[in-house]
Amino acid sequence: MSPADPGLDALLRPRSIAVVGASRRSHSIGHQILRNLVTFGFTGPVYPINPEAGSILSIRAYPSLRELPEPVDLAVVVVPRREVPAVVDDAVARGVRGLVVITAGYRETGPEGACAEAELRDRVRGGGLRMVGPNCMGVINTDPEVRMNATFAATTPLAGTAGFMSQSGALGEMILAHAAQIGLGIACFVSMGNKTDLSGNDLLEAWEDDPRINVVLMYLESFGNPTRFAAITRRVTRKKPVLAVKSGRSAQGARAAFSHTGSLAGAEVAVDSLMEQCGVLRMRSLHEMFDLATALALQPLPRGNRIAILTNAGGPAIMATDACVERGLEVPELPDEAQAALRKVLAPEASVRNPVDMIASADGARYAAALDVLTRVEGIDGLIVLFVSPITINAAEVAQAIIAAGRARRRPILTCFMGKEQGAASVEALRQAGLPVYLFPEETARAMAGLLRYQRIREREAGKPAAFAVDRARARATLDGARAAGRETLETAEVAALLGAYGLPVIPTRAARTGAEAIEAASAIGYPVVVKGDAEGLVHKSDRGAVKVDLRNGDEVALACRDIAAALAGSGGPAPSFLVQPMVRGGHETILGLSHDPQFGPLLMFGLGGIFVEVMKDVVFRLLPITDVEARAMVRSIRGYPILAGARGGPRADEAFLVEAILRLGQLAGDFPELEQIDINPLIVGAEGSPGAVVDARVRLAAAGSHR
Ligand code: COA
Repeated sequence: MSPADPGLDALLRPRSIAVVGASRRSHSIGHQILRNLVTFGFTGPVYPINPEAGSILSIRAYPSLRELPEPVDLAVVVVPRREVPAVVDDAVARGVRGLVVITAGYRETGPEGACAEAELRDRVRGGGLRMVGPNCMGVINTDPEVRMNATFAATTPLAGTAGFMSQSGALGEMILAHAAQIGLGIACFVSMGNKTDLSGNDLLEAWEDDPRINVVLMYLESFGNPTRFAAITRRVTRKKPVLAVKSGRSAQGARAAFSHTGSLAGAEVAVDSLMEQCGVLRMRSLHEMFDLATALALQPLPRGNRIAILTNAGGPAIMATDACVERGLEVPELPDEAQAALRKVLAPEASVRNPVDMIASADGARYAAALDVLTRVEGIDGLIVLFVSPITINAAEVAQAIIAAGRARRRPILTCFMGKEQGAASVEALRQAGLPVYLFPEETARAMAGLLRYQRIREREAGKPAAFAVDRARARATLDGARAAGRETLETAEVAALLGAYGLPVIPTRAARTGAEAIEAASAIGYPVVVKGDAEGLVHKSDRGAVKVDLRNGDEVALACRDIAAALAGSGGPAPSFLVQPMVRGGHETILGLSHDPQFGPLLMFGLGGIFVEVMKDVVFRLLPITDVEARAMVRSIRGYPILAGARGGPRADEAFLVEAILRLGQLAGDFPELEQIDINPLIVGAEGSPGAVVDARVRLAAAGSHR
């Protein structure tokens, strides 16, 4: 680990440590931290600080940091809150460079605590120190050169290659205990506490090029700086996997229904989009995170999605196969030569196609022989080895066979040992040999799919941001014009001007105040036409009977205007005006939009329009800035993509048009942060090569005076 910041170095790999508030009471936190430091074998000196004690745990104690015989790199602070400011001053005076503040009672307790926390932050920063916490469980670094367990955890951490940061201290104990139990070794563990000084982003940067850490795990409750998180994780995830559990789902989803985009966006989709774009693997539970982390930490990545399953029982193999297929893995029939080779070494009753079912009589030798074939066969990218322990079979020999196969590290091997007689010793032996062991077939398959998911992230093209030639001045003038008129919602002509300036193909639309004007407009445009009602606050036009399509002559236009006026008459507002457009035929209706998350900033939305957005909510979001690769991924990741791709013989939609429209909207939103919401609904996409069109769109600006 080589953080450039010496304060960070003092926090993560100090050469000497003082425990301020090292208590004489054996069941206190301060005492436990001192004990953990000593028993874990910290490689430098440890000094207890306690004004009341001569020695603690047989180590000479000092009354304050100022009286230490030499400066220390790190002070772990475990004194009551009222004492903390004086301790920080002492630390500054004695040349301490890092603080881990365990003490609680800050922001998490309310406004008074928040003030105390702000004061603590200023004091720490003013003194040039770096700080983990407050309100945290401490820091662990298992590097043999450091061996620091500056936590009060009861579990002795297992050394390994995972970097774990947790925003919850309470979960820390469970994290360390479970990680040790399943064989997931920890290189560094940081309980972040209130993240008052050291942030998760700082740690990610410190771990980015740390060769001891090959998988980064995060338990998050909030994002301090999503933009920086995005910039760092985009880089880090190309080098090592980053897994995150994010809890704390907020109620921001309920927004004013100005637009579909606004009502569908919310904090959760923003978090999902952020992680997806940056290559962070978002996990739904700690359980899932541990399962995948173990596989990532210990096994090579699969090159492709073809998995072989070796088993001694049919049922679990079927479950594993189903779970693989559900997650995009294939369980292909093995090549003839491999089947022939397996037939030679397995019982005649065995099935050798894949899953390879050796039946219950398979012993260690059979597992070894089958694995010898399967680890070499071309066209297999990963192996799942299942073992249901029959009473007659020596599980330890089976485990040894798998361990021997794993040594070659040609492709990932994940194992699932089931049954009472599995033998804890065998499982332990597998784990020690770096082979992840799962209890259920589905978990094993899910972890294998996770390995492939990360491999795909590493292979992802970087992509380029949009840089179309646009008429920025015209867009600026349009927005200024609306502002000058005191409007936040743009009028139809302004919407057309704004989107048109950024090359979004808005179909020609004429406004008409009366039926007669509508007929005039229709003749100018040419029949057939569409007539729509236009009134303040009217969003769901077709639901309200305010859209009449395929009108072929003046009489039909006049009738349509009367019907629309009648349909909207109940709303109490002034009589509606009308919009007349050419009739667009064919193509698919899609929706493209922009919304603004208060924390994450502009979010683009894409999905299939009409019923798909109303009922199925089949939409995806991405944060800005967006690249061409991400725009394409947006189009391809909606559930209804097969419809655009020409399912059941339908015409293939012009994907390039959609990608370009997303990028153009992204460029517009990036250029004008005051754009609060845009709803292009529908955006019609034609067959490949034929033109698409913005048929209806709404644009709203952020409230005047809001600082964007
Ligand atoms: N310098 C050095 N030692 C000091 C001190 C100072 N300024 N002031 C007090 N001490 C000593 C005390 O003498 C005591 O030692 P003793 O037991 O040998 O007498 C020890 O420090 C602890 O002080 P005490 O007043 O007994 O506090 P405590 O142990 O009850 O509580 C905390 C201290 C930090 C644990 C408590 O304030 C706290 O914040 N608890 C919550 C911690 C937490 O949950 N953190 C988040 C985890 S996820």
